[in-house]
Amino acid sequence: MIPAELIKQKRNGATLSKNDLRKFIHEYVGNTIPDYQMSALLMAIYFNGMDDDELFSLVEIMVNSGKKMDFSNLDLFVADKHSTGGVGDKVSIILAPLLAAAGLAIPMISGRSLGHTGGTLDKLETIPGFRTDLSLKEFQSAVEQSGIAMIGQTNEICPADRKMYSLRDVTGTIESIPLICSSIMSKKIAEGIQGLVLDVKIGNGAFMKKTEDAHMLGNMLKRIGGHFGITTDIVYSNMNQPLGRTAGLWCEVREAIDSLKGNGPADTMEITYELGSHLLLQAGISDKLDHAVTLQKSIIDSGKALDKFLEMVETQGGNPETIEQYKKLHLPQYNGEITAEKSGFIQSINTYEIGLATVVLGCGRAKLSDSIDPSAGMEFVKKTGEDIQKGKPIIRCFNSDKSKLQNTLKRLKSVIQIGEKQITQPLIY
Ligand code: URA
Repeated sequence: MIPAELIKQKRNGATLSKNDLRKFIHEYVGNTIPDYQMSALLMAIYFNGMDDDELFSLVEIMVNSGKKMDFSNLDLFVADKHSTGGVGDKVSIILAPLLAAAGLAIPMISGRSLGHTGGTLDKLETIPGFRTDLSLKEFQSAVEQSGIAMIGQTNEICPADRKMYSLRDVTGTIESIPLICSSIMSKKIAEGIQGLVLDVKIGNGAFMKKTEDAHMLGNMLKRIGGHFGITTDIVYSNMNQPLGRTAGLWCEVREAIDSLKGNGPADTMEITYELGSHLLLQAGISDKLDHAVTLQKSIIDSGKALDKFLEMVETQGGNPETIEQYKKLHLPQYNGEITAEKSGFIQSINTYEIGLATVVLGCGRAKLSDSIDPSAGMEFVKKTGEDIQKGKPIIRCFNSDKSKLQNTLKRLKSVIQIGEKQITQPLIY
């Protein structure tokens, strides 16, 4: 296999054979094929797409680049949730412990920030001491003991996705339907799950801006799930504004803790319960949607979901007592505000720009080697449909790097449109 020949084939629109694809990816994971050749292949896939056979091969090769979990010894329904990526989406941090407290096993492998979207892994790593790099043995025993563990792609699990994901983030190759699908599904298949619910985001803060593209993505995810024997449900949700009241790193963990304490924002909880209901139905724990929602609310009210989160933090190296002081952790050194230029109602929010601004603020990476600032984030004081008075704050930004804060504030100048009409929009399509 000559890498440049394979890149040319894909560039010219041909379908790659499983053998060639396997060799290319194995050599990339083994560092024989350099980043620049993989970048070129990713760009060729971005432009030419993949047919189903090629895609199923890619997923299989990515899964087999590492080890696969096996939880068949557990007498529990093993399941997971994943989102295609958005801004302010902290649902996994709420839903995983909630479902584990409901009696499911949730071995979750999450991703880092990608492009303008936040990553669960980067958020979780702001919990002092919390390890997302558990060995397979540790991952297995955490799930067996507590019914939950949240980790990242390691060298053992989906190393191909780990390398390709970071490379896509910095080479303009994120928004490719087959690349998104293979990245998500390879991690999910390697988890050894039986059931899956996927939150496919649509809107100006999602990778898929158009409903047709989101449906194409959702259908492809479902086909991959079916091909690999995983019951896969798709929920389409609105990403035309950030989810909840915060976007960033530690501030999102804080908001997730508030949600687990019963004080979550309405939109965040609506999506959490919708996604959770699908898995409770799949697991046979609920047979009706309204029962599934009531059950989840009662688990939050009882404190069991928060207890499960604290148990997970402790198992993965964090200190639950630190979490009790969560409002005092990672306090930012600097704050700034975007204020309303006129009175009225918020008409629209440029969520993509907000996501990019969170990267500038210190929540994401512009290049592979960039480090992130746990204290960085934004609070959305007002959201679409809400009224605002001239001069009052709409977005508060905070971090621990003054010049990044100033650059962010400049960037956010025209992301909010204010008008006279009060807009409403659905959250779940
Ligand atoms: N989430 C993933 O895990 N991978 C992607 O490519 C996009 C979202």
